[in-house]
Amino acid sequence: MAAAAEQAARTTPTPFYLTSEAEIAAAAAHLEAAFPDPWVRSYSLKADPLPAIVSLFNDRGWGANCVSLGEINAARHAGMPNAWITLEGIGKGPEEFDAAIAAASTGAPFRWVAIESLDEARALAAAVQKYLTPLSTPLRVLLRLNPSIEPGTHAGLAVGRGSSKFGSDLAEITAAARLIAADGAGIELIGIHLHAGSQLRDLKEWETAVERSLAAYAGLVSEGLITEATHQKHGTLCVGGGEPVALDGSDDPAAQARAFRAAADAAWSGAAGPVPLVRAIEPGRALVATGTYLIARVLHIRERAEVVSGPLALPGALASNCERQVILDAGMGELIRPVLYGARHPVLPISSRDGSTRLSAVHGPICESTDALGAHQLPEGIARGDLLAITGAGAYADAMWSPYNGRPRPARLLLGVSGELSELRVRGLI
Ligand SMILES: Cc1ncc(COP(=O)(O)O)c(C=O)c1O
Repeated sequence: MAAAAEQAARTTPTPFYLTSEAEIAAAAAHLEAAFPDPWVRSYSLKADPLPAIVSLFNDRGWGANCVSLGEINAARHAGMPNAWITLEGIGKGPEEFDAAIAAASTGAPFRWVAIESLDEARALAAAVQKYLTPLSTPLRVLLRLNPSIEPGTHAGLAVGRGSSKFGSDLAEITAAARLIAADGAGIELIGIHLHAGSQLRDLKEWETAVERSLAAYAGLVSEGLITEATHQKHGTLCVGGGEPVALDGSDDPAAQARAFRAAADAAWSGAAGPVPLVRAIEPGRALVATGTYLIARVLHIRERAEVVSGPLALPGALASNCERQVILDAGMGELIRPVLYGARHPVLPISSRDGSTRLSAVHGPICESTDALGAHQLPEGIARGDLLAITGAGAYADAMWSPYNGRPRPARLLLGVSGELSELRVRGLI
């Protein structure tokens, strides 16, 4: 990767994102081994919706889990057929409904649409009724359960908590299912959708979330809200994503994927009522986080103590407390996770500088104090123009890019499995 980054930096201005196809393939293979067919595997585009990345998953038989018309278009651009597209998200609006209805009306429906609330079920039913022609195939939906667990992750990622804005409790699920049965002509309720949170480390809690989802599913079947015919043919539970990634390399991703599968199996085998035939996962981060590096250059270096404590100290991963300051040409615009979630992304030198290293405060170029990457061991002799790689920049990095301070969008490059470099997006293009 270092050699490819140096080669690319001769012609591509920094910062740029460099993705290793081999690393993405390895991450995908771990999840494919743990969740083989007939598990339905979809890639959650929110982690990185670049069509060229999505098409790597398309080629491996993964579907596309989308939250917006923009992501649906990216999935289509990557070659995904409607039958492999799932649509979910707390903020779906008329554009997303229209896309789902249009797909069903042409006989090529999305795999499913996951509904977040009773109000959303009402809005979708009304949108289908307003459509001028009856749908030629049913618009299949899941209802998203809020499993009300303690996901054991960062507060900003704990979407399976009862207090989060995501999903519905059992009473709301039942009300939405009854509404669909009464007013949802053209809509077929096929099951339950779950996503308990991201960077999930507490698998016991996750297993509880899957158990609750299975119980919710069984309740809908026994009330006839999922019909017997649907249960037999299309009954579905999607258990979401959330598999964690440690950027310091301390995880064993194959073992982790197996542990998630074992927890799902334990929930399925303990289920009392009718269980869904179709089982699905939709990871994002675990597939793409580690395969992409943000390649940056050193802009300025100076000796300046940053030993700060008390209320004005930067929190967690942003804090430095050391005596050398290194300013890079990449920062929170290209990678917002440190400031958003306190994420620590190791920074590795690429330009070789032999000898000792020194703890250095690494900052980005943006006019915000929180544009910082914390303290990292960097070569003593580091100099202006040296190249560095910020690791773990594949998930929720380019996807959350911001042009703040008038900065152009970085180029995207791919290091292919046989070592060739290709440009996936030129610098400056949105
Ligand atoms: C519903 C849903 N599914 C899947 C994902 C992907 O999660 P992760 O990237 O942690 O695997 C998310 C992330 O927010 C989500 O909200």
